[in-house]
Amino acid sequence: MKIYNIGSLNIDYVYQVEHFVTVGETLSSADMKIFPGGKGLNQSIALAKAGVKVIHGAICGENGEFLLKTMESAGVNVERVLKKEYPSGHAIIQIEPSGQNCILLFAGTNHLIDENYIMEFLSDAEEGDVLLLQNEVNGLDMIFEIAHRKKMQMAFNPSPFHEKIKQLPLEYVTWWFCNEIEGEALFGGTAEEIAERFIKQYPNGNLILTLGEKGSLFRNRELHIKQSIYPTKVVDTTAAGDTFTGYFIASVVNGNNIEEAMRIASKAASITVSGVGAAESIPCYAEVKELE
Ligand code: RIB
Repeated sequence: MKIYNIGSLNIDYVYQVEHFVTVGETLSSADMKIFPGGKGLNQSIALAKAGVKVIHGAICGENGEFLLKTMESAGVNVERVLKKEYPSGHAIIQIEPSGQNCILLFAGTNHLIDENYIMEFLSDAEEGDVLLLQNEVNGLDMIFEIAHRKKMQMAFNPSPFHEKIKQLPLEYVTWWFCNEIEGEALFGGTAEEIAERFIKQYPNGNLILTLGEKGSLFRNRELHIKQSIYPTKVVDTTAAGDTFTGYFIASVVNGNNIEEAMRIASKAASITVSGVGAAESIPCYAEVKELE
C-alpha cells in the first residue's frame, strides 16, 4: 500500500507576541523566526518520522527550496514536487505566551495545482492506496474525483475550514481528521454530539477528533474511543494536529489497532507542542516510544 499526500508547503514566519494583534492595533513582537511549515509538509514529515514511506505532491515556489530540503532530510519522497517561478505559500503565525497561535495564510504556489499535475502525480496509484489531503491547496473537488475513480482510501483533514468544504463529495472520505472547530462547523454540537452526528451521516467513515487539552476521540460504526493527552509544558501548539494525523495514519498502516494508533499519535503531538515551530518540532519515532 502506497501513501500519497497532496498538500501545502509554507514558509512560516513565527512571531512571539504578548497577545494576538487586534483591530487598529500596532503590536511589537518579542521575536521572529522562519520555519518550514504548511499542513501538507508537516503531515508528510510526521508520516516519514513515524517510519512510513510517503510521496508528496505540491508546487514549490522560487523561494521554497529549503522546504524541499527539510522534507527530503526527514525521508519524504519529493521527486514529484513541481517547481514554479512564483512565490511559495507562507504563513504569518502569532504565538502568545500560553503557546496558542493564530495564523494568516498566503497561498502562493499552493493554489497552482491543475488536473494534468494530479493525473501525473497519481499515475501509479492503485486501489487501496492512501491519499491524504488538507484544505490548503486548490482543486480539491477534482482531486477527490480522481482519487475516487482510482478507488484510493481518502484521508481528509478539512483544515483550514471553509464552507465550500461541505460541497465536496465527503462520502468518499474514509479517515476524517478534525479538530473541535472543524467538527463543529461540519456537524455541530459538543464533541460527543459531533461524533454521533458524524456516524449517522457517514456510517462507513472513521472520525478522529482532536480536542486540544481535552484529548481526542475516535468514532466509527464499532468503536468509540477516548484518548487523553500526555501532559507537557506547552510552548507552541502549531502542527500538533498535523503530527497527530501523520502518526495516526502511520500507526494504522503499520498494523497497529486503533487504540494504539490513538496513543502513539497523542504522544507524538504532546512532544510537538513542547517545541517552537511546525515541522521542526515533530518528533521521530524513537522519541515517541520513550514517552511513558
Ligand atoms: O498546521 C500548522 C500549519 O498551518 C503551519 O505550519 C502553517 O503553515 C499553516 O499552514
